[in-house]
Amino acid sequence: MKYNIAVIAGDGIGPEVVQETVKVLNLVGEKFGHRFDYQYLLAGGCAIDKLGTPLPEETLEICRKSDAVLLGAVGGPKWDDPTAKIRPEQALLGLRGALGLYCNLRPAVLYAPLKDASPLKESIIANGIDVLVVRELTGGIYFGERGLTTDNGIPAAYDTEKYNEEEVRRIAKIGFESAMKRGKKITSVDKANILESSRLWRRVVEEVATGYPEVELSHLYIDNAAMQMVKDPTQFDVIVTSNLFGDILSDEASMVTGSIGMLPSASLGENSFGMYEPIHGSAPDIAGKGIANPLATILSGAMMLRNSFKLEDEAQVIEKAVLGVLEDGYRTGDIMSEGMKLVGTTEIGKLVMEKIEKGM
Ligand code: IPM
Ligand code: MG
Repeated sequence: MKYNIAVIAGDGIGPEVVQETVKVLNLVGEKFGHRFDYQYLLAGGCAIDKLGTPLPEETLEICRKSDAVLLGAVGGPKWDDPTAKIRPEQALLGLRGALGLYCNLRPAVLYAPLKDASPLKESIIANGIDVLVVRELTGGIYFGERGLTTDNGIPAAYDTEKYNEEEVRRIAKIGFESAMKRGKKITSVDKANILESSRLWRRVVEEVATGYPEVELSHLYIDNAAMQMVKDPTQFDVIVTSNLFGDILSDEASMVTGSIGMLPSASLGENSFGMYEPIHGSAPDIAGKGIANPLATILSGAMMLRNSFKLEDEAQVIEKAVLGVLEDGYRTGDIMSEGMKLVGTTEIGKLVMEKIEKGM
């Protein structure tokens, strides 16, 4: 089979981590007899520099026509003026919104060899961590009405958190479907003691739950959930939550598993099309030095094979290879610990490829 992949390498370390991922995908394609065709597109800060807009129409058009999008990272200090009208992050929100990618899957797994990289005590993580954050991605405060106003003559600003029942229902269903394939436990995170939108969220999640009697549902307020994530992350299986709470909780979940440099993500819509990206940002401080960790992007490539192309065996080959490299003691700087072997971006990419070659 032939698959068309739109590639948005983006800014900072984006191009470096994407390059390793493309190499890994090509190798897997070669081994299993698939062809991946790539179209490299501009979005983010580099698009602002070249074309004056973070998300050029052409980029969006080609993404729409492709089978999946692989994205590195966008943004950086050069474009970071919060008062600027044009910002790289608008590319991400524009892609998510325009492509209808309302479901963001962010699996946070503590790989056994990375236990030392977790900031949590051994006693807390002894049983490992395996959480899937299901984040709503095209609603809530990210997309609600916002603006500048005045309060009795004092300059003010507002953003709106709004959800309709349908938006909650479709993401809740994915949460429950995911739980059915995993540990059959789901935690819905909201702030229903304060927010009207959270009360609607909770009511709809409970409705959806009646269709999944085997799944154990619990509700947590976001403040408590943030605390539980460091107190005992092993209690979680699937977490389903809103756009903003999911943004925050997924960063926290990534850190307790050792490094934000390890976590992949999939942004999905109604059909098999999806956008795949590491959850880390563009890390401008280490860009161009060849030391960035490409594993989150490589693992995002595996999620692409699984979710968009239904190539489960191929996805697992990549995941096993990544685990194998970690088991062999190779580490990039972000996950380095005593006694391990420090390697750079292309070296760890090459090690993953060697594992794939050997594993087949
Ligand atoms: C993420 C990022 C983005 C978000 C930013 C860069 C707009 O933090 O994907 O988690 O807030 O969604
Ligand atoms: Mg985030």
